[in-house]
Amino acid sequence: MAVLKRTHMCGELRLADEGKEVVLNGWVAKARSLGSLVFVDIRDKSGITQVTFNEDLGDEILEKAKSLRSEYVIGVKGIVSERSSKNDKLDTGDIEVFASDLVIYSEALTPPIYIKDDDNVDDKLRLKYRYLDLRKNKMQRNLTVRHKIAKLARDYFDENGFTEIETPILIKSTPEGARDYIVPSRVKNGSFYALPQSPQLFKQLLMVSGCDRYFQIAKCFRDEDLRADRQPEFTQIDLEMSFADEDTVIEIQEGFLKRVMKEIKGIDIETPFPRLTYAEAMERFGSDKPDTRFGIELVKLNDLFEGSSFEVFTKALSEGGDIRGICVPGGADKFARKKIDKLVDECKHYGAKGLVWIKYEADEIKSSVSKFFSQDDLKTVLDRFGANAGDIVFICSDKPKVVFDTLGFLRRRIAGELGMLDDNQFNFLWVVDFPMFEADDEGNIKAMHHPFTQPKLDELHKLDEGDILGLNANAYDIVLNGVELGGGSVRIHDRELQAKMFEVLGLTEDECQEKFGFLIEAFKYGAPPHAGLAYGLDRLVMLLLGEKSIREVIAFPKNQNAECPVCEAPAPVDEAQLKELGITISVEEESQE
Ligand code: AMO
Repeated sequence: MAVLKRTHMCGELRLADEGKEVVLNGWVAKARSLGSLVFVDIRDKSGITQVTFNEDLGDEILEKAKSLRSEYVIGVKGIVSERSSKNDKLDTGDIEVFASDLVIYSEALTPPIYIKDDDNVDDKLRLKYRYLDLRKNKMQRNLTVRHKIAKLARDYFDENGFTEIETPILIKSTPEGARDYIVPSRVKNGSFYALPQSPQLFKQLLMVSGCDRYFQIAKCFRDEDLRADRQPEFTQIDLEMSFADEDTVIEIQEGFLKRVMKEIKGIDIETPFPRLTYAEAMERFGSDKPDTRFGIELVKLNDLFEGSSFEVFTKALSEGGDIRGICVPGGADKFARKKIDKLVDECKHYGAKGLVWIKYEADEIKSSVSKFFSQDDLKTVLDRFGANAGDIVFICSDKPKVVFDTLGFLRRRIAGELGMLDDNQFNFLWVVDFPMFEADDEGNIKAMHHPFTQPKLDELHKLDEGDILGLNANAYDIVLNGVELGGGSVRIHDRELQAKMFEVLGLTEDECQEKFGFLIEAFKYGAPPHAGLAYGLDRLVMLLLGEKSIREVIAFPKNQNAECPVCEAPAPVDEAQLKELGITISVEEESQE
């Protein structure tokens, strides 16, 4: 069967095309037979056109048209005509095509999901039948915008002297902090490759190689718990620059994001973006990726509660904790008891044991702790927030991290609930001066970004003074509307300083050699000062499209269990394949309970 030579895409035709003979190829979105008339909506990635078959065509074609069912793949030839009853929901709604010929390329079973943008079908089915889900106009638009952003990145970075260079996928583990996906070696039984969590070490090697400005649209792999903005396999726009400092990297990136916003959203965004230090971001927003589309900033209350009779607060203070709160303007009548209980429950995920609330009602101040405080005391607290009648205040006291995490979550949660998050507002900002190190729950010191990040050189004395956690780094994140879009740093290129950082991290010479020996060795042969950054491409596309999950902008994403529902990976492999790799599987017996 010959394929009809397409003249137009299905979403392209307009009134100006009236009278033209056209050929469309696509899928049947809808077919309705009214006896001597058959209406068929034909769909391709660009949209839908209505095709009309009438009795003038003769029985053979009309009967063929009557046999059409949803998702049959067809080709249609016909004449574009103005429609008598227009459809303003379709871009092509002013016209229809009067068919003169029809070819059925393939028939289709009834699809297990409707191919409709606003269909509320279960996510599991959508992911299993992703090839059908992707036929939806919205999903086609998402993939197209993703492609356009990737192309823009290639053009922009090329214009700015960057060269796209591929780095290997089968590598040795890189120190990015997540768990690796590993691949067994057949040639060297018992040894494993790791899939890159990012091209970090190789892009630094490229700087030593004299590549000067590198970029890559790079696949990265991290075995970590999934969230709406995390996938085990994701894509970075990754770059590194020689002879660059923090300001140079930031300026180049702002140019890129300005271009993306203009070409994808038609919006002129102002540069330079605001810069907040990590300390200020935490203090004001309780988060190192603050959403600044709304206020509700954190307020510290420690001094107000010193020596108070409310033990929860005094205990937190005596244990080195903090008391902070947020004020929701006009929120007093929006948070009934049940709703507050639900919020408290959600805050428990962040370690909070509870929340204190104060409602500033016109004639009375109500509070979950009114037993412990007089109306005057409560008014003093409200005044600290500049609260007005009708507002509600939520207070959390605990270890500083728990307080920040809880209130950081709560302010955004409440803003979402009260409709304060505008998807059409784009608040870009940089968070700079991240701490160089952080301590885990057991008190072990880890690099907050990675061990090659350059500490602030004028703060190195803090190491000798024992204030390791007070040392800041030349590290920066780009944040958009409460999501970390990307992160990077200036790198250490001085061997002595690098050795000192490894020492703080408690890495022995042998461990360093084992982990990153090849980079340390390369640095002996002349390393330029360098700095870089990587964006999460998936996150950038998600935010520009107003989607809530990066799954919506990835053609074949993994599900909650890190499985690919289409090909059903991961899956067992042949015994013979395992043998070649020198691997024996011992599956623990499942408990019989
Ligand atoms: P980082 O680990 O901060 O830095 O990652 C950079 C950006 O990658 C995105 N990202 C993810 N996106 C989806 N799913 C994930 N699991 C995931 N993990 C990270 C985020 C993040 O901001 N090599 C350094 C960069 C550098 O220093 O140059 C790095 O990878 O948007």
